[in-house]
Order: sequence, then structure tokens, then C-alpha cells
Amino acid sequence: MKRLFVKTYGCQMNVYDSARMADLLAPLGYAPTDTPDGADMVILNTCHIREKAAEKVYSELGRLRKMKEEKAQGGARMMIAVAGCVAQAEGEEIVRRQSAVDLVVGPQSYHRLPEMIAKVARAGGQALETDFPAEDKFDALPAQSANAGPSVFLTVQEGCDKFCTFCVVPYTRGNEYSRPVVQILEEARRLADLGAREITLLGQNVNAYRGIGPDREDWTLAKLLHALSRVDGIERLRYTTSHPRDMSDDLIAAHGEIEGLMPYLHLPVQSGSDAILAAMNRQHTADEYRRIVDRIRAARGDIALSSDFIVGFPGESDRDFKDTMTLIRDIGYAGAFSFKYSKRPGTPASAARKQVPEDVKAARLEALQSLLIEQQRAFNRSCEGRTLSVLFEKPGRQTGQAIGRSPYLQAVHVDGADDMIGQIRDVKIVSVGPNSLKGALAGAKTRDAAPVL
Ligand code: SAH
Ligand code: SF4
Ligand code: F3S
Repeated sequence: MKRLFVKTYGCQMNVYDSARMADLLAPLGYAPTDTPDGADMVILNTCHIREKAAEKVYSELGRLRKMKEEKAQGGARMMIAVAGCVAQAEGEEIVRRQSAVDLVVGPQSYHRLPEMIAKVARAGGQALETDFPAEDKFDALPAQSANAGPSVFLTVQEGCDKFCTFCVVPYTRGNEYSRPVVQILEEARRLADLGAREITLLGQNVNAYRGIGPDREDWTLAKLLHALSRVDGIERLRYTTSHPRDMSDDLIAAHGEIEGLMPYLHLPVQSGSDAILAAMNRQHTADEYRRIVDRIRAARGDIALSSDFIVGFPGESDRDFKDTMTLIRDIGYAGAFSFKYSKRPGTPASAARKQVPEDVKAARLEALQSLLIEQQRAFNRSCEGRTLSVLFEKPGRQTGQAIGRSPYLQAVHVDGADDMIGQIRDVKIVSVGPNSLKGALAGAKTRDAAPVL
């Protein structure tokens, strides 16, 4: 057996891709290991979204180079591959800057890894592969073989045609592509057989999904969710990330119709200022976003929302920032990710003249995050005393403890539940910590129990 170490940066799609790369290399004799030390193959699955994320890769490569040299002294070989969005955006630069790198493979091309490895092993040198359409990749990937646990990701859509002016994703992940319905349903059944109970559908613009159905019609995400809700064994569904523009009527309605569709939606807004939203090319106003949220809440009263925010986008004034704070207060979020604007090469906003000074960005981020944390705590506190369904995913730190997720994606710790991993149980929330909830098992099994007649 050869040892494979994969390090994943960035978004959930990279997590999915890393698992698929491991599936792809398993038939070649590579078994996953959790340290790069002595590994035969190291893959860095990288993220280009912000400058910091991209720079991490080069420092990690410096450390790996030393490990590779040590291994070579013992007469053995460590292959180093760089995959993901930095590979796509800066492939040639990586090859030039770091000679220890053997392979560079983009996110749409990683199905070619086996032949690239064979080529490098045979002929030496560096291999670079960054231009293949996503459809070839999905056709070429083998079926999942590893049990990834009760909650898994499934990519249904990849790429983005929106071109927000700050964002590299349209350049690193290419045009929007939706996988065919039948391929997705097969994968979902396979994941259920391997033990999955919850599937999170992934796409850079997942709600723009338009995949070809078995009836040769284009299916929407709502239609796909209805079909997935009928897959045996799959009891919970989620999807991420959505663009407000693509929250169509049928998708909003699906939140009221599909019981297993979890009442938690990540719907990034980025800013609450119309001027900034326009400069970002988000294609909606702050009020349009508010109205979309109203409609989602009308369809599913208990839905909790999360979002992404960027502070310090070029030209953002104090007034624009205040509009963002107002929007946050109006909506009330259960969770959020927020970032200082980071200039990305080749994107229109990076060339804007009115860049916001670093100290202003830092102050705004602090104010925004303290409001969002306050809202998250208030939301968590509102769950105290309630009974929530929890899907147990893994053992906790203490003996006998298990950790699962509530419908609202909160981590829930329960003592004496370590034999319940993979099950969904009703849990009474007894206390609320800063990052997780503590609960106690309440009553009988929920959905996986036989009905009492
Ligand atoms: N497709 C998703 C976002 C994917 S990127 C969407 O449309 O919302 C994830 C998040 O990273 C974005 O929502 C944004 O908040 C942040 N982000 C993207 N580019 C950025 C940049 N140049 N600087 C700072 N944050 C950025
Ligand atoms: Fe990036 Fe905008 Fe596309 Fe999201 S919708 S991936 S932020 S370009
Ligand atoms: Fe990063 Fe690429 Fe995902 S840039 S956020 S890994 S799509």
C-alpha cells in the first residue's frame, strides 16, 4: 500500500473533490493517511478566493520540499501535487516557483491524475493539466467507495457565470455546468448505501442548477430536491451556495413542501448598500434581498439564515457600511462568514482606484462580526429548552459522548450517545455554549423508527 495525504483548503466543493481524488487513486494502491510525513503522494487541494488562502500554498510547499528531500535520502519518492483553484489560476507560476512540485491539476481536470502520475513516474519532470470541461470529469470519476460518514457532500453544479467583480471563481471553476439528474440520483443512492443520512448538494451557484432530467427536460434544483427526498435512507437534504437572484418560486415553495429539506439556508448578500451591490455586479438591491427572505420565511416559518459579507469593497463609504449593518439587523442571522475585501488578480474590482485603507477594513470587520456573533448567540439561546432532531456524526471528546448537527447546523454534544452515530434522534437542548449546544436524548427515535400503530 502507498500512502496518500490530501490537504484541503477553501470551500466544501474542495472537500468533495478531495474525497473524489482519493476514490480515484484507491485502485492504484493509495490509501489515505493523516500526515504528510513519509507519504508517497501529497495533494494540496488549494483555494484562490482571498490572497491569504493562496499564499498559504507556497509556504506549505516549502515545508513539503524538505520532507520530499528527506524521503529521497532514504531512497524513496514523495510525489507532490497541487490541485484546486490556485492550480487553475497560477499553474505555470507554481511549476516555476517550486521545482519540488511534480503535478499541477485544475479542479476540472483531476480525473486525469492517474495518467499524470504514471507519466511523471515513468518520465520524470513536471506535469500540468488545467483545461478540460467539467462534464468529462464527472463521466470519468469512479463510483464512491469510501464511507464518508452520515453527512456527505454531493456536487451537482459547478462553475459560475455571474462574474461578481471581486471574485475569482468564474475564472478558476469555469462556466456553469449542471450534472445530469440520473447521475446525481445514482450517486445519492450509492452514498445512502455507504451510510449517508444527510446530503448537502454543492454548487458555486447551486440554485442555478439546470440539469438534464430522465425525461430530457431541464430540471430545476427544486425538482431535483423532490426526487432526492424520495431516495431510501436519505433523511435530510441541504444545498449550498445559493445566489439571491436564483431563489426561484419553486425553490422557495420546496422549503415548505419537503420535510427533509433542513430549515437553514446560506444566502450570501455581501453588502447592504445598493451602490456597493451594483459595483459588485450582484444584480439585486438590498430591498430585493429583504423581500426574497420574507418569501422564504413565509414558506417555512422556522427557517434560519446565514450569509457571507465583504467589508471594504472599493468605494465603500461609512454610509454604505452602515447600510450593511442595518440589513443585518433587519434580517437577523443565525450564522455568517465575513471577510475583508481582498484584491484578486484579473478581477475588475482589483483595478478600482478607490481602495479602502486596511485599518478602515479592520475596524468595519470587527464591528460587523460583533453584531453577527451577538445574533448567532441570541439564536442559539433561543434553542435552549427546545427539542431538536440531531443527526449524530462522530464521537465527542469525552467518553460516551457523540456530536451531531441540529437542523440549523449547530453542533450538539450529547453524553451517552456514542452508539447512535448515523442516527437521527430527538434531543432536548439543555445548555448553550459559544460554539455548540449541549443536549440530552429525549424520547424515542424520530424518523428511522417503525411507526407505532
Ligand atoms: N458563490 C458564492 C460565493 C463563493 S466564494 C456566492 O455567490 O455567494 C465565498 C465567499 O467568499 C463569497 O460569498 C464572498 O463573501 C467571499 N469572497 C469572494 N471573493 C472575495 C474577495 N476578493 N475578497 C473577500 N472576500 C471574497
Ligand atoms: Fe463568485 Fe459571484 Fe459567482 Fe458567487 S456568484 S461564485 S461570488 S462570481
Ligand atoms: Fe476557493 Fe475555489 Fe472554493 S477559490 S472557495 S476552492 S471554488
